[in-house]
Amino acid sequence: MKKRIFLAGIAGAGLLGGLGFLAYAWHPAIADITPPAASSFSAEQVERGRIVAAEGYCAECHTRTDLGGGPEFAGDYQMKTPFGAIYTSNITPDPQTGIGKWSEEAFRRAMHRGISRDGGNLIPAFPYDHFTKMTDQDISDLYAYMMTRPAVHLTHRPNELPFPLNIRLLQAGWKLLFFKQGVYQPDPTHDALWNRGAYLAEGVAHCGSCHTPRNLMGAEKSGSTYDGAVVDGWIAPPLNANNPTPTTWNEDELYAYLRNGVAPLHGSAGGPMSPVPHRFLSTVPEEDVHAIAHYFAFVDNAAVRAKHDKDALALAMNQSSVDLTHPVVDPDAKLYQGACAGCHYNSAPTPASGRPELALNNALWLDEPTNLYQAILRGFTAEEGQAGVVMPSFYNALSDKDMARLAAYLRRTRTTLPPWTDLEKKAAAARATVETIPVNSSH
Ligand code: HEC
Ligand code: HEC
Ligand code: HEC
Repeated sequence: MKKRIFLAGIAGAGLLGGLGFLAYAWHPAIADITPPAASSFSAEQVERGRIVAAEGYCAECHTRTDLGGGPEFAGDYQMKTPFGAIYTSNITPDPQTGIGKWSEEAFRRAMHRGISRDGGNLIPAFPYDHFTKMTDQDISDLYAYMMTRPAVHLTHRPNELPFPLNIRLLQAGWKLLFFKQGVYQPDPTHDALWNRGAYLAEGVAHCGSCHTPRNLMGAEKSGSTYDGAVVDGWIAPPLNANNPTPTTWNEDELYAYLRNGVAPLHGSAGGPMSPVPHRFLSTVPEEDVHAIAHYFAFVDNAAVRAKHDKDALALAMNQSSVDLTHPVVDPDAKLYQGACAGCHYNSAPTPASGRPELALNNALWLDEPTNLYQAILRGFTAEEGQAGVVMPSFYNALSDKDMARLAAYLRRTRTTLPPWTDLEKKAAAARATVETIPVNSSH
């Protein structure tokens, strides 16, 4: 996940200037407490907190993955940004290096307002612009869960941000410009399920932090909610009516994808999306996942768009069956048959499970071949994809030129969209984002 762009709000600082800004930017420290005994929280509350933590992927950003990995929640996870690396905080209850001495009030202030216990403004790579929407009850439960985790003594590496981005006081400028504080307010024109889904999606689950494009200051663009964005070398597709895949993301497809990581008519959750279902949303009450699916079926206007699904499906299945039944003359089709068709072949009426239908997958329908290249280069391990099926990495087996030919061929034969451009150059760029050759490489 992550590598989200952010920028300190120097502009905001300049704008306001002087004392007025200081008064806005400066916050008092909240007094230390003696770490609360684990027995002071009920088992029920801790379990509710576990669910909130899973719905906010706290472990994903607060657990080190380099240097051989790290204990859960102990921080030091490296988030790369264009300005330098940031290392996440230790949020275990260790009194010296974690949040053991934080009162619930200090924890709530951090989640709702992006302010550390000592008063310092937090960097918006921590998605407090979403966590601000969480109810006090959810934050209390989350606090109970965090305070009952094993304490780990671990200090994170210093951030590598250059002056003046490293000045916490100036982070307040960003807040001034882009941060809207406030708990989620239910929309009375919608029912309880919709509001539950909206509360989770906009708040703790922060779907927009990957799926909404950001401005130059790293804030989500307000008029472009869920328009799709680039994250860690992948495209997080639009989740609104601009989603280009030919069959609609309706409530059932969304539920299957968010719960199990695979939707029958779309395919699997790969790359930065993979942990969302596999590590987190598969472990929370299914009503919550239903609520999120219900909400996004509204956001993408599924009720209206689904009318064309049957035609789109028939067309896709038709395109995909052609390959193995007709003699192949097109050299690009030959390349596809040799490398891919053995697994990515379907015949009517619907795709077989474990065999994603590329004609329906976002990989071919997005504005750029980014996700197609990532899938080809990395493959899918059993952990990140569906249980029991894997796709080998073609990192070594296919050159940039081969990948460009495959991309052009698939776009031409499986979609109704204009061709992609600069395919070979983009293949090389995608290859450069794959730092290590994936473990499931069989070539
Ligand atoms: C997208 C990555 C990301 C996610 C997800 C995330 N955090 Fe963080 N968090 C950060 C970063 C980065 C920082 C450090 C910010 C800084 O140094 O200014 C941070 C800081 C914090 C702090 C402040 C600690 C301190 O010492 O000041 C708390 C508390 C916190 N996170 C709790 C949580 C909880 C609870 C969750 C899950 C609901 C969570 N975070 C999810 C990235 C994340
Ligand atoms: C860390 C970044 C990240 C977060 C957080 C995230 N997503 Fe995604 N999402 C992605 C990426 C990247 C993809 C593309 C994955 C692929 O093509 O295999 C994706 C794909 C999807 C898709 C498939 C779209 C398509 O057309 O194929 C859906 C639906 C989706 N996400 C919904 C959500 C929802 C709902 C949430 C919040 C509960 C969420 N995502 C949170 C990054 C993220
Ligand atoms: C050995 C079988 C196999 C081969 C060969 C193979 N794939 Fe795959 N591919 C899969 C499976 C299985 C998945 C789904 C992975 C998962 O969900 O765990 C997948 C997923 C994908 C995806 C992502 C779809 C999604 O659901 O997001 C794309 C794109 C893709 N493959 C393209 C290709 C291309 C292009 C080739 C040829 C260069 C190829 N594959 C070769 C088995 C294969």
